[in-house]
Amino acid sequence: MASRVCLLLLLLFVSGGDGAAQPPAGAAAQFNVKAFGAVADGETDDSKAFLAAWAAACEQAGGSKMVIPNGTFFLYPVDFSGPCNGPVAVEMEGTVAAPPDLHSFPADKDEWIAFNHVDRLLLAGGGTLDGRGGATWDCVRAKNCPRRAPHSVSFNYLSNSTVEKIRSINSKQFHLHVFACNNLTLRGLEITAPAESPNTDGVHIGDSAGVKIADSVIGTGDDCVSIGGGNSGVVVSGVVCGPGHGFSVGSLGGSAGDEAVAGVTVMGSNLTRTDNGVRIKTWERPYALSAANLVFQDITMSEVRNPIIIDQHYCPEKNCEHKTPSEVKISNVRFQNISGSSSTKVAINLSCSEAEPCEDIQLIDINLVYVNRKENVVSSCSNVRGRTKGTVIPASCL
Ligand SMILES: *[C@@H]1O[C@H](CO)[C@@H](O)[C@H](O)[C@H]1NC(C)=O
Ligand SMILES: *[C@@H]1O[C@H](CO)[C@@H](O)[C@H](O)[C@H]1NC(C)=O
Ligand SMILES: *[C@@H]1O[C@H](CO)[C@@H](O)[C@H](O)[C@H]1NC(C)=O
Ligand SMILES: *[C@@H]1O[C@H](CO)[C@@H](O)[C@H](O)[C@H]1NC(C)=O
Ligand SMILES: *[C@@H]1O[C@H](CO)[C@@H](O)[C@H](O)[C@H]1NC(C)=O
Ligand SMILES: *[C@@H]1O[C@H](CO)[C@@H](O)[C@H](O)[C@H]1NC(C)=O
Repeated sequence: MASRVCLLLLLLFVSGGDGAAQPPAGAAAQFNVKAFGAVADGETDDSKAFLAAWAAACEQAGGSKMVIPNGTFFLYPVDFSGPCNGPVAVEMEGTVAAPPDLHSFPADKDEWIAFNHVDRLLLAGGGTLDGRGGATWDCVRAKNCPRRAPHSVSFNYLSNSTVEKIRSINSKQFHLHVFACNNLTLRGLEITAPAESPNTDGVHIGDSAGVKIADSVIGTGDDCVSIGGGNSGVVVSGVVCGPGHGFSVGSLGGSAGDEAVAGVTVMGSNLTRTDNGVRIKTWERPYALSAANLVFQDITMSEVRNPIIIDQHYCPEKNCEHKTPSEVKISNVRFQNISGSSSTKVAINLSCSEAEPCEDIQLIDINLVYVNRKENVVSSCSNVRGRTKGTVIPASCL
């Protein structure tokens, strides 16, 4: 008798909806992209189904979940925009693949997938974003792309949000582009693109506050993490980087709109065979701003090309105005407990601006050796003031 009552209740519950079943109290309503017509065959255009599932999830008050199940979905450029009526979890178990061809991207779209204006977004589930960047890298290298390469995913104006256990592979430009977010945690990411793929930064952060990146593995063709202007309270920890160009603050001061950077910590992270280790770079251009309170601590390097570098003479295309010195003021930077091997002789290069010397640069407990161990590494300083503490190898030039 009791079991029959239970069965009846169960039947009532299961049948009580129209695709979007009413959730039991406390559980989030679920919106599966397949229920909205998505076909996981890797070819059918699933954009409309994804947008409809998002719209339903975003509309739901009190919390909801958009589910992307196993399988490969094909998605044209889309925007998942808020504000929503409650927190939205996007559970991505499957693979979502981008159009390979740049002609599929509207001229004004900077990315393939954007999440905009959401408070309490959770993107998780172990799934994969496949940017299918191969053909784009070829045209970027040949300088004949029909348009600027789009990023894989942008997170614009998110607050109190989390992205965890997501894989991103072969982005056309940056993998993850974080812009104007407040309190965003990225954790357990796995980001992969070939070492020679151009501009495929792992995570780029701009104009944001309280962005944390933790416990992630990033191997790509450009910076593993790049921290641009307008950021405060960025914390990178437990990240394994390589191949790639390392952890970078900058490039700063490249245009008039660049804002100050205040408070960046990179700690407990490792780099293997990267082009740089920890780097601060500013354009040789006349735009004034400050970069202050930066910490690089507890970092292990293996065969890294420029383990510790401040480069205030950045001008890759040789297009900087009349060789004006950088007007970015760098101050209070601590490099502490950094050890491992350098693949070049100059393991510490502090090359600061003639116009705005670096102030209060601290080198504490540094132990870097030349990779072949037959020669000693050296340090190089220009326009820099600071101090050392503990043992510093190579001998400090401060
Ligand atoms: C999805 O695929 C993963 C890996 O193949 C597997 O572990 C998981 O159980 C699958 N989930 C479902 C709901 O089928
Ligand atoms: C940041 O967001 C998380 C949810 O992702 C929340 O638990 C936490 O309280 C928020 N922190 C602040 C300072 O708002
Ligand atoms: C983020 O969370 C904090 C703490 O719960 C809250 O005060 C704030 O309003 C939230 N931000 C937004 C934009 O909703
Ligand atoms: C970095 O390498 C050190 C030494 O090999 C190891 O103890 C540590 O766990 C590694 N850190 C990460 C984040 O993998
Ligand atoms: C120095 O950093 C390494 C990781 O690179 C860490 O294992 C070690 O505990 C740190 N040492 C101190 C004294 O904090
Ligand atoms: C230090 O870096 C700057 C900027 O990249 C470069 O011009 C300079 O040659 C480097 N110094 C040494 C001694 O390698």
